[in-house]
Amino acid sequence: MASICLYLRGRVIASFLYVCCVSAAYAQLPPVPVPAENPITESKRLLGKVLFWDEQLSSDDSIACGTCHLPSSASADPRIGVNPGLDAIFGTADDVLGSPGVRRADSSGTYYSDAIFALEVQVTGRSAQPVIGSQWARDLFWDGRATSQFIDPETGLVSIALGGGLESQAVGPVLSDVEMAHEARDWGQVAAKLETAIPLALAVNEPADVAAVLAGGTTYPDLFATAFGDSAITAERIAFAIASYERTLVPDQTPWDAFVGGNPTAMTPNQVGGWNFFQASPCAVCHTPPLFTNNTFRNIGLRPLAEDVGRQDVTGLPTDAGRFKVPSLRNTGLKETYMHHGQLPSLAVVLDFYQGINGQVQFPANQDPLIAAIAVPPFARPQLEDFLENALTDPRVQAEQFPFDRPMLYSEVLVELAILADCVTGPAASPTPTPPTTPLECINLFDADADADIDLIDYAEYQLIYSVL
Ligand code: HEC
Ligand code: HEC
Repeated sequence: MASICLYLRGRVIASFLYVCCVSAAYAQLPPVPVPAENPITESKRLLGKVLFWDEQLSSDDSIACGTCHLPSSASADPRIGVNPGLDAIFGTADDVLGSPGVRRADSSGTYYSDAIFALEVQVTGRSAQPVIGSQWARDLFWDGRATSQFIDPETGLVSIALGGGLESQAVGPVLSDVEMAHEARDWGQVAAKLETAIPLALAVNEPADVAAVLAGGTTYPDLFATAFGDSAITAERIAFAIASYERTLVPDQTPWDAFVGGNPTAMTPNQVGGWNFFQASPCAVCHTPPLFTNNTFRNIGLRPLAEDVGRQDVTGLPTDAGRFKVPSLRNTGLKETYMHHGQLPSLAVVLDFYQGINGQVQFPANQDPLIAAIAVPPFARPQLEDFLENALTDPRVQAEQFPFDRPMLYSEVLVELAILADCVTGPAASPTPTPPTTPLECINLFDADADADIDLIDYAEYQLIYSVL
């Protein structure tokens, strides 16, 4: 392990200063709504943070919530996978640039060839949305199917009457056989796994708060007991803990917050120009400050309705066809892809779309009339772009500082070490969770890795890492 440790030591371990009493000047965001049934406690927040970043929450140890929601990418996904969309053909206009999830596996966890993705990891049918900033929305996901009323998936009873959108959302990915699970995974299996798993065993460089709570061999049953009074691990408790963590991720230290809080130099003159345009434009009707979303569902005419009807899937109403949740623009400059289909690669292209220029086409069926009213004069365009790109970014989110800090994921270690899909026998057997069966090829692969930062590891070390599984 020596060389790995060396390598890990080389990474910056951030030190955090938690400013507990933010000045009123920064308090632009409304208080985070917290459902009465799930008050935030420090022990729940910590358990939620551990669960959110633990790849062992997936059935094959390959993916955590955080894999698809990295703070430095606005807590959306910097990795880009291609889902072929409705026509199931790659390389056509309806492709979605979504999040890579898990390889298809049957109910026993054995991988088999998926009809579309074969033995590669599957890709979600919509792009990942930021978690940070989602805590004010009533219903979550692009189409709002994670409802404010949270039903305990194990008992079928109402767990949270109102305001439980985050809890409703959190129980989705864990059993999804595209995102984190083998087919037919149930909560009993999830609980049984967590009962014996060493929390965050696969992650490295744990944040200070997490390292402190896990010091001395704390187990998941210990963490659940501290948070909930006894050690039982249930879907409801997993959801309560993750949602509590998410509610504490408040991105309220952007240049814009400081500016409207009374610091006239917090935004550049260019950004102030962009803000002045923005607030007087139709943009602000939907992307309403201070959340920069009004959390409604709107159809901006991005794609033909036949591809994805969005909100109509949930309500059944024809008037909801093509409507998607208005995304918050906080930290939007950190995103890699834009819109529910992930096809727009930059804010410049987003603005091209709204203006219908540079080859960007709008689809008028059921389109919101406000979109036609958008006119960005040439002088305002660079200002608006600068404002969106830079003035709405919380530097703590970008730098992954408390409370937005996180461990390094094992998948990132693997990528860094170039133990990639071709290791050993091809994509079916690697990179996780199956340890290589023919070490020579792996060693060759590692030795071929010329990355100067990384000391080569050998097969014995690789096995050592896997021995924690
Ligand atoms: C494979 C990647 C992936 C994993 C793993 C994943 N997510 Fe997501 N997440 C997504 C995608 C894609 C969406 C949007 C899906 C949609 O709207 O249909 C999303 C949406 C969300 C949203 C909704 C945000 C909003 O504004 O509506 C939250 C919150 C969220 N995820 C939290 C989590 C949590 C908690 C976990 C772990 C239990 C998790 N995610 C695991 C990809 C992922
Ligand atoms: C009628 C409401 C509405 C108006 C007006 C509007 N937007 Fe949007 N905006 C949306 C919706 C809804 C989406 C998501 C659409 C989708 O993915 O199908 C979106 C997406 C975006 C995104 C992508 C964010 C992400 O996370 O992917 C950006 C950036 C954006 N809008 C900026 C603007 C700007 C700038 C303006 C003004 C020029 C504007 N919007 C006007 C509703 C609106």
